[in-house]
Amino acid sequence: MSAKLQPAARVKGNRKDVWSIINEAAAASPNQPIVNMGQGFFGYNPPDFIINAAKQALDRVECNQYSPTRGRPRLLKALADAYSPLWGRQLDWQTEITVTTGANEASPHADSLAHSVAGMLSAFMAFIEPGDEVIVFEPFFDQYISNIEMPGGKIVYVPMHPPKEGGVRTLSAAEWTIDFDELERAITPRTKMLVLNTPHNPVGKVYSKPELEKIAALCVKHQIIILSDEVYDRLYYVPFTRIATLSPEVERLTITVGSAGKNFYATGWRVGWMIGPQELIQYVSAAHTRICYSSVSPLQEACAIGFEQAPAEDFWTTCVADMQQRMARFNAIWDELGLPYSEPEGGYFVMVNLSKVSLPADYAFPPHVAERPRDFKLAWFLIQELGVAAIPPSEFYTDANAHIVEDYLRFAVCKTDDVLEDAKERLRGLKKYIV
Ligand SMILES: Cc1ncc(COP(=O)(O)O)c(C=O)c1O
Repeated sequence: MSAKLQPAARVKGNRKDVWSIINEAAAASPNQPIVNMGQGFFGYNPPDFIINAAKQALDRVECNQYSPTRGRPRLLKALADAYSPLWGRQLDWQTEITVTTGANEASPHADSLAHSVAGMLSAFMAFIEPGDEVIVFEPFFDQYISNIEMPGGKIVYVPMHPPKEGGVRTLSAAEWTIDFDELERAITPRTKMLVLNTPHNPVGKVYSKPELEKIAALCVKHQIIILSDEVYDRLYYVPFTRIATLSPEVERLTITVGSAGKNFYATGWRVGWMIGPQELIQYVSAAHTRICYSSVSPLQEACAIGFEQAPAEDFWTTCVADMQQRMARFNAIWDELGLPYSEPEGGYFVMVNLSKVSLPADYAFPPHVAERPRDFKLAWFLIQELGVAAIPPSEFYTDANAHIVEDYLRFAVCKTDDVLEDAKERLRGLKKYIV
């Protein structure tokens, strides 16, 4: 191919990404159809009041046309009403919130789940100059990486450490910890931003208030912008603190990311938002205008109605109870098999430790799996032998730290009860490989 037709490095990538590997494995498995517990999309619809709002929006002329670049006033007002009580002060819908195309927004190698952290791309585009450093905890949501690299940012990784006894005992996801000295050592004069994710994908950790205070103190000391990815903010099973609410000094540095896709079981709607001080949000908004111009109008309207009606529908309480019930239903299989997992404090993923699973020594893995850490082999094996797909989390670590999670697999439990039961039945097939 002529050199001029070569793609730019930012979209090229030379290693097969996890989504291609898992989808190819699923297609090649003799166990069809596969039970897909890998991808974080919902196996069921948003509630009727939200679906009906979307249908009705399509009948309205103004809902089928461009929205203001910052978002539709009705959605901005609904977000301000929903989040002001959580912030403990009145948010200004005209200056402190901006609507984005999903939490992610746009990304060069958006995975097959078609999510992209649009809002987040805008935030990085707004503040990162080539060579600026961004601190990201491992494991990370994979889209951060390309979104930071696009404006030329340099990623500085700080690992989250799993519990030492994670291979032998089920422990709370709270036991995954940050070494704060390691974090402080990662900060340099070029550190511009820090990305936080709570409740966390894939670990299921909800950062405690003391942990957030330590992170925030470092960011205040070094004047680092905090990008707090809180897309699972309605799914927490322990007390949840929003870092922006710790103090006015912290709030001044914080952009909080939200996602209607996660909140309303509609990941394909691509509606997200950012909340923060006007001095930061205005530039996120400016970048968003250049990237997407504006976001999908009828679905913004539906999300506005979703927020307006959620309290009367008792939706936020129901969705926590519902997900906890799915978690309990699914995780019963690990208790039955004697395989430990990290008990999630939030979100809809569970990390299971499969160090007790012995893979047959002569098993024929394809070369692109054989060369990856053990979790890729575990994922491949589960797909081929049992017909259950899960995600190998070492994909969310740098090569140097991939070994930290090579015994884990991530399962998404946002699936119907039938699917969860089917997965459990198939996973019973692991018994003969457990030592
Ligand atoms: C931690 C995290 N942030 C952001 C996103 C993307 O959200 P959205 O689909 O609204 O772009 C996801 C989706 O999986 C996620 O897990």
